[in-house]
Amino acid sequence: MVVLLGGPSAERDVSLSSGKECAAALRAEGFTVTEVDAGPDLAQQLAQIAPDVVFNALHGRWGEDGCVQGLLEWLGLPYTHSGILSSALAMDKERTKQVYREAGLPVVESHLATKAEIEAAHVMAPPYVVKPYNEGSSVGVYLVTEGANTPPKLSPEMPETLMVEAYVPGRELTTSVMDGRALTVTDIITSGWYDYDAKYSDGGSRHVCPAELPQEIFDACLDYALRAHEALGCAGVSRTDFRWDESRGLAGLVLLETNTQPGMTPTSLVPEQAMACGMTFGALCRWMVEDALE
Ligand code: DAL
Ligand code: MG
Repeated sequence: MVVLLGGPSAERDVSLSSGKECAAALRAEGFTVTEVDAGPDLAQQLAQIAPDVVFNALHGRWGEDGCVQGLLEWLGLPYTHSGILSSALAMDKERTKQVYREAGLPVVESHLATKAEIEAAHVMAPPYVVKPYNEGSSVGVYLVTEGANTPPKLSPEMPETLMVEAYVPGRELTTSVMDGRALTVTDIITSGWYDYDAKYSDGGSRHVCPAELPQEIFDACLDYALRAHEALGCAGVSRTDFRWDESRGLAGLVLLETNTQPGMTPTSLVPEQAMACGMTFGALCRWMVEDALE
């Protein structure tokens, strides 16, 4: 099999870490694994290797947004995780919310705005978040805090159109879905903002899994994550992220996004949740491959 990793997205390093972990685990499970760093010659490389299945460990644009899925369909190769349409939908946080709304799932107010509009004046009442609508791992996420007088000054690398979303105070929760069921809920505790560093540095965040929450909130996360997975048409494993404003009870729970290529690094959430359900990392990777081949 081929494990696809790296690639050109802003989440390249995360993917290299995810891919190396998965490749090692799959080898230990007895598979013959070729690691392929996804570059411009990807189609030729895959045609030459002719694997029986492709384990997609890419994150972000090109690897998580339907592009590589289209190439794999074109080459007739079975692959892990979601297909073209679900990947493309879930990579676009605004379109994802349209799907959530239609499925009756709760979201917080947001809209797209240009960089110029965002820098000219507050586009909504602070606190709010400005973020790319099609990146992962909190790359380029700005928090405009309550009481901020001036609109944010964005870095030149930020794309021209961005998503602006009301900030939900409180807790960061997440739930993985696999094999037609939601696994459990993790409460992600950080001293500050759950940004790229908090996500990937050792000790950057603390995960409470299973989360200690009122039963109603715990069950709602499981229900919403499964419904999000189904509404988006995801396959294999997905992970849906939430914010929960505990002062508002169940009404304070909203979905932020569904990740169709969730992280598989040593600090990642899906492997932890699988482990909490009695599934080793190796067994999780094996299930993904077997599911892709079904
Ligand atoms: N985008 C990262 C890899 C995640 O969702 O885990
Ligand atoms: Mg994401």
